[in-house]
Amino acid sequence: SKRVAVLTSGGDAPGMNACIRAIVIACQKSGYEPIGYLHGYNGLLNQEFVSLSLDSTHNLIQQGGTILHSARCKEFTEEAGVKKAAANLVEAGIDALLVIGGDGSFKGATYLSDYFHGQIIGIPGTIDNDIAGTDATIGYYTAIDTAMSSIDKVRDTADAFERIFLVEVMGRHAGFLALNAALSSAADYVILPEHFESTDAELKNIITQIHAQRRLKGSVSFIVVVAENVWPKGLPALTEALNEAGITDVRPLTLGHVQRGGAPVSSDRLLATTLGEFAVSLVGTSSNNVMVGEVNSHPVTVPLDKTSDSKPLNSAQVALMKTIMNERYDC
Ligand code: F6P
Repeated sequence: SKRVAVLTSGGDAPGMNACIRAIVIACQKSGYEPIGYLHGYNGLLNQEFVSLSLDSTHNLIQQGGTILHSARCKEFTEEAGVKKAAANLVEAGIDALLVIGGDGSFKGATYLSDYFHGQIIGIPGTIDNDIAGTDATIGYYTAIDTAMSSIDKVRDTADAFERIFLVEVMGRHAGFLALNAALSSAADYVILPEHFESTDAELKNIITQIHAQRRLKGSVSFIVVVAENVWPKGLPALTEALNEAGITDVRPLTLGHVQRGGAPVSSDRLLATTLGEFAVSLVGTSSNNVMVGEVNSHPVTVPLDKTSDSKPLNSAQVALMKTIMNERYDC
């Protein structure tokens, strides 16, 4: 029988637990022994693992977070750490390691493959959706939903006071979450890393839109979704710039880690289940150092070192948001 280990690494994402559950079920079916390493790659370094069984999967599909805990592991970017992890995997008799995580986790997995000669399979789990080779990553849909419903709530109070709100959304250096949160909550403006030109150009455009809307409709609320890490010095600087331009009553709001939590929505549960099952189906085959993903509803494998290629935003969505931002209220 094979020993199949799984770990969750980097930013946790809703649906990681659903994926662990799918892996355990698939292992049982194939007669494999599922092992869970704790605290991301730290677990490999400290030989910290637990045995997983169907008992540990009870009610797991609906739980946010990850029962295996997660970490960002600095030691894993150094050769000594990776060598130690490889030796520990051999000592524990692990045939295949499944890594649920994002970009940093896959870089770690690729590094590990230089020293560990068992199988390594990545499963994309991050709210950022910034992984090439898969249409979506586990956790992304839930995070859109969380951001959307938060912005819906902000809209109520923004409307009541006819205020401007700046809402910072996560996504690391990608705009998937910000764009989808903006479109689904009917935000008035979005600032995305992929389309950011300069603070001057964005500022001018935002101010034009606010004035145009207010001319047409009187005093109205205006919501700007801002992808994190884009505006130099963040929301305080943008708030100040708007104030200086005579636009007062601006409230900045950073949604933050609330976007990482909560019960996964159905799309994340389904993706997590499909990918967990698919990853286990590859155990014992020649697929190695690959990530499993889904493209047009079909499971695919992608070499791990291709997963950090750039991934474009959906162009139809970008066009729609541009229409909302620039044409509807053009003056
Ligand atoms: O990758 C997930 C993510 O939540 C990003 O959106 C964000 O930039 C980052 O992790 C935050 O990291 P931390 O939880 O370490 O503050």
